[in-house]
Amino acid sequence: MSDKPLVLLTHPLPRAWLGPLSERTRLVVGPADVAGLAPELEPYLAQAEGLLTWLTDRVDAALLDRMPRLRVISNYAVGVDNIDVAACTRRGIPVGHTPGVLTDAVADLTWALLLAVARGIFTAAEDARQGRWGLWSATRWLGADLAGRTLGIVGFGAIGQAVARRARGFDMRVLYTSRTPKPHAEMTLAARRVPLETLLAESDFVSLHVPLTPATRGLIGEAQLRRMKPTAYLVNMARGPVVDTDALVQALRQGWIAGAALDVTDPEPLPPTHPLYHLPNVLITPHIGSATHGTRERMARLAVENLLAGLEGRRLPRVVNPEVYEVHHGR
Ligand code: DGY
Repeated sequence: MSDKPLVLLTHPLPRAWLGPLSERTRLVVGPADVAGLAPELEPYLAQAEGLLTWLTDRVDAALLDRMPRLRVISNYAVGVDNIDVAACTRRGIPVGHTPGVLTDAVADLTWALLLAVARGIFTAAEDARQGRWGLWSATRWLGADLAGRTLGIVGFGAIGQAVARRARGFDMRVLYTSRTPKPHAEMTLAARRVPLETLLAESDFVSLHVPLTPATRGLIGEAQLRRMKPTAYLVNMARGPVVDTDALVQALRQGWIAGAALDVTDPEPLPPTHPLYHLPNVLITPHIGSATHGTRERMARLAVENLLAGLEGRRLPRVVNPEVYEVHHGR
């Protein structure tokens, strides 16, 4: 039997993106079409020393209890809301993630969605395709202006700041919320930190970029949607549960806001019969923020670096729970 450590990759990734992973470990790969940890991986849990997860896999204390030899978890995502990080820390298991490498791709898609929903591009394109073009019209397919309008960015980490950087090219005023002030970014991006209530009331576009935590779950509910301008648009690039879906449906039906663009939904995937698909002022994409060839490959390479570092007893290049290195843990 090989002395290489056993690693579970919960779903397949292109081999070329995995670098030295298959040479340095005994790799067991789960199937593509099963959400979460597939039954095929069960027989390997007790022996696995490394686990490479997707954002659709739930890693909780019950799973960790079944993986007594686990030494590192590497999430193929920047968000780690699918992982009980505290439970990992208690067991001394470092958790890696993939920040930085996807910042531009997510910021780009934010703007693609913002522009598409503001200008009704999907409706106009579909009308053209379906033969509903007709004579040029001065009043059909009218959308919203961007120049001089206010963009409110909820969550001013790397992605929120990259969205703000792009807003300068559109001559927009930028407001943001963040737990801590970001004086350098404020100066370079001409962005102003305000309370969430102010941001919601003053913004023409509200773009969400917070991680999903107990504090941000349901952050945008009925009260917050009612605070927004009836001409404003909501863009969600964060995680679906940051927005109360039922309240959003109500807001869009009753015209509390003008429209929404959602790259993430609650639940995911959003079932095809969901009322959100039947509203004309909503654009939904299937969680593709980081979906460019280069970005998804860079994410894989970073996830592999994190995993190998953990297996070799080195500090993970991008670790979510650095405190794991500071305290002594019993299992
Ligand atoms: C993430 O990384 O958290 C995104 O949602 C998927 O790339």
